[in-house]
Amino acid sequence: MPHDLKLALPTLAGLEDVLAAELLELGATEISAGRRVVTCAGDLELVYRLNLEVRTALRVLINIDEFAAEHEQALYDRLRATNWRKYLKPEGSLFVNVVDPGRWFRNTHFIAQLTKDAIVDQFRDKYQTRPSVAKGSPDLNIHLRISGSGEVDLSVDSSGDGLHRRGYRRRTGEAPINEVLAAGMLKIAGYTGDQPFVDPMCGSGTILAEAAMIAADHAPGLLRNFGFERWPDFDPAAWGTIRQEALARRKSPAFPLMGADIDGLAIAISRATLERANVLSYVELQESAFVDLTPPEVTEEVTGLLVTNPPYEMRMETGDIEAFYKSIGDTFKQNWAGYTGWLISANPTAIKRVGLRTSKKIPLMNGPVEVRFYKYELYRGSAR
Ligand SMILES: C[S@@+](CC[C@H](N)C(=O)[O-])C[C@H]1O[C@@H](n2cnc3c(N)ncnc32)[C@H](O)[C@@H]1O
Repeated sequence: MPHDLKLALPTLAGLEDVLAAELLELGATEISAGRRVVTCAGDLELVYRLNLEVRTALRVLINIDEFAAEHEQALYDRLRATNWRKYLKPEGSLFVNVVDPGRWFRNTHFIAQLTKDAIVDQFRDKYQTRPSVAKGSPDLNIHLRISGSGEVDLSVDSSGDGLHRRGYRRRTGEAPINEVLAAGMLKIAGYTGDQPFVDPMCGSGTILAEAAMIAADHAPGLLRNFGFERWPDFDPAAWGTIRQEALARRKSPAFPLMGADIDGLAIAISRATLERANVLSYVELQESAFVDLTPPEVTEEVTGLLVTNPPYEMRMETGDIEAFYKSIGDTFKQNWAGYTGWLISANPTAIKRVGLRTSKKIPLMNGPVEVRFYKYELYRGSAR
């Protein structure tokens, strides 16, 4: 099929390039990385495939119209003339999300209301029944983005729930990392499953689950449903084929994966997370302090990979965060030769105490918190 759909995949700041690389691998064309979004071209089958397979996007939007609306009536007329029946059943539910710089129309609430009215009026005219508005889990999420110059970009969200909702998470520990961020960190670190992997401070197990799913070639969307499955033009045969292909590809990882945490409750939560993700049998979990952990063996040819999200702060009674980061550096030097270590942290003062040269420092966002992702090469025989 020709790639006649214009797609936009929002992502987290700093993950645009890894997302663009994923899209290329999954068969998208005309890929272009923007700020917290990557756009590309595709067809409906690719939309299904991206929702199932992409690890570093938050959702898959399909652009269905672009136009300049000089005034509110023009906006209403254009929206009412749009063919909504393709995406929404007359008795379905919708929600309108608006991004507007506030220069052209009254306010975002008003635009959302006007969009809803245009859609509802279209359905009432044709079917004598109308869709309802639902904020939580509507059948169709509509995105209207208005630029500073009054250009309107109208998109529908094919994903439904955000793609970070893999379906394996129930309980979390204290500061769980977003699944999309965890997958993005692993992609930045170059993880493909072809080397031993360890998260020694695994918390609720998000990084481990994402790593095990990469190593076992599990598509991240196998455990959940998507918005497009509720569209009137949904093609269950095409979707079934794409899902079957993904299921058939699953394999046992060739190298060990290990997770540890000093807190027994974190290990219990990680076990439940990995079990729901169907990867528990691939991961060895240990209740252990980082200093006491013995890494899986590595060789000259195959180095190991450690990716972790240590605490950024510590409560006074549990100790001194700078001393803790110094102990991470000391442990790297003593026990982790032959590994590449990556730490994500929002504490630049403490990170200096690791005391090793960083070979990369990548700015990312962990929710609202500015963080950096630090790379350490822990060479053999050169405990520096
Ligand atoms: C920020 S949380 C990790 C969150 C995790 N990435 C997630 O998504 O749930 C940091 C974890 O480090 C653990 N931790 C703190 N000190 C530790 C130590 N010395 N050795 C091992 N784990 C430690 C804590 O118990 C906590 O679970």
